[in-house]
Amino acid sequence: MIDIASGHPAIDRYLNEGYESVRGMSSRFAAAICGHIIRRQSEMGIKGDIAEIGTFEGRFFIALALGLAAGENAVGFDLFDWPNERVLQRFIDHCARNGLEASRYIAWKANTRDISADALRARLNTGKARFFHIDGEHEHLPLSVDLELAHAVMHPQGIIALDDMLHPGYPTLIITVMDYLKRHPEMVVMCVVDREDIVAAAKFLICREDAAHLYEKDLMETFARFHYVVGADINGHFVLVLTPRPRLAEVGWDS
Ligand SMILES: C[S@@+](CC[C@H](N)C(=O)[O-])C[C@H]1O[C@@H](n2cnc3c(N)ncnc32)[C@H](O)[C@@H]1O
Repeated sequence: MIDIASGHPAIDRYLNEGYESVRGMSSRFAAAICGHIIRRQSEMGIKGDIAEIGTFEGRFFIALALGLAAGENAVGFDLFDWPNERVLQRFIDHCARNGLEASRYIAWKANTRDISADALRARLNTGKARFFHIDGEHEHLPLSVDLELAHAVMHPQGIIALDDMLHPGYPTLIITVMDYLKRHPEMVVMCVVDREDIVAAAKFLICREDAAHLYEKDLMETFARFHYVVGADINGHFVLVLTPRPRLAEVGWDS
């Protein structure tokens, strides 16, 4: 197990004692980094709710929602029909077992293409999301719909996290993300959180360019052990890359 923590006691307890017991596909590495971001948002006075598309059994959702501050809530969307209808009850049970009170979240059984931004806003306690994880259908049109839904309800200093970026099984999703960035030039990929494994793939963390400074330096310093210093370039923005085992290829300058 990678030795990484969010610094938020409830989230770290869950990461250490509950995370692996909830079936799911997101990495613990990414959950710790996102948990840290949520803790830091609270410390910076960024107030907003938390949302996720594609909660499945709740593995990542619980980690995020345990970081809610007073007065905030979490909304989790899923069709809750895969691999069978019992998944909703499993989700509810996992939340309860891992200390997430029923009053803190809404499990919304819906197809996100049928959800308007106004309908979502009405169910967010503060009316805006400070952290939004998108992990629903991995196709061009559904991801575009999900990105626009999230975009419409975001806190100006909030973070959109996108799962399964650069995944070998979904290589064309990057086109959907580039289209989104073209439609919203105020947004940048602030950080790439690299994969742990083929089923715990990389995430992009997206925010407004004018909010990126709130996160970049802090992430670079807090997670210095995981910093791939070469970084990445997306649309001219220098993107922070965090990876479980950073290293550079050896180059034989003298040979
Ligand atoms: C890969 S799983 C999510 C894994 C979970 N986020 C985790 O980290 O463990 C994708 C989920 O998205 C849900 N989903 C797919 N398309 C959806 C849609 N249009 N609206 C709502 N949920 C959807 C599926 O039912 C499935 O449970």
